[in-house]
Amino acid sequence: MKITFYGHASLGIQIKDIYILVDPFITGNEKAVGIDIETLKADYILVTHAHQDHILDVEAIAKRTGAIIVSNFEIITYYQNKGLEGHPMNHGGSWDFEFGNLKYVNAIHTSSFPDGSYGGQPGGFIIEGEHKTIYIAGDTALTMDMKLIPMQTKLDLAILPIGDNFTMGIEDAILASDFIECDKILGYHYDTFGYIEIDHEEAKRKFFDKNKDLMLLAVGESMEL
Ligand code: NI
Ligand code: MN
Repeated sequence: MKITFYGHASLGIQIKDIYILVDPFITGNEKAVGIDIETLKADYILVTHAHQDHILDVEAIAKRTGAIIVSNFEIITYYQNKGLEGHPMNHGGSWDFEFGNLKYVNAIHTSSFPDGSYGGQPGGFIIEGEHKTIYIAGDTALTMDMKLIPMQTKLDLAILPIGDNFTMGIEDAILASDFIECDKILGYHYDTFGYIEIDHEEAKRKFFDKNKDLMLLAVGESMEL
């Protein structure tokens, strides 16, 4: 499994020859330098919730690639009404896709579209593919529901928001790492706007002090699992 960071909360995940994009917000992110939505590959686009900084480029990329959008029922209905293809899910549900198993899990946040339409309830994803399992938390507060995850799954990596203000900050992300029983964390949802700027070295040190590993990728950088 190859994971690429496209800035903010945008990720690319490659499992075998299948390309998954998560929460594409690139054209509106001045920090996503060098990422071109015209060349990004996508067989699937996963959407955690309907906020602008997670869906801005969904329509353009789905139209160009024919990717199947996967999200909650309300978000999929919104895109199906625009003629795009989608797979609706809801909290607690899983489905076997060609890349592996995907579960839509709880997040504590909100989820309206930029035009005010109802975007259902926000979520996160657990993806199991190629014998690796990752958790993409989406925008969320620290929540006790995270404790449910290790009761069923051994995570190899968790992607957690760490920017604070709109989501968990560093201290809560460290607790989340305990809740999900995964010490290997990729941080996201930080530095994009003034409200969520963080000190990288301090953040890494705080995780290190708890015997945890916080990774921060540069825009366009990838890691292999
Ligand atoms: Ni949000
Ligand atoms: Mn967000």
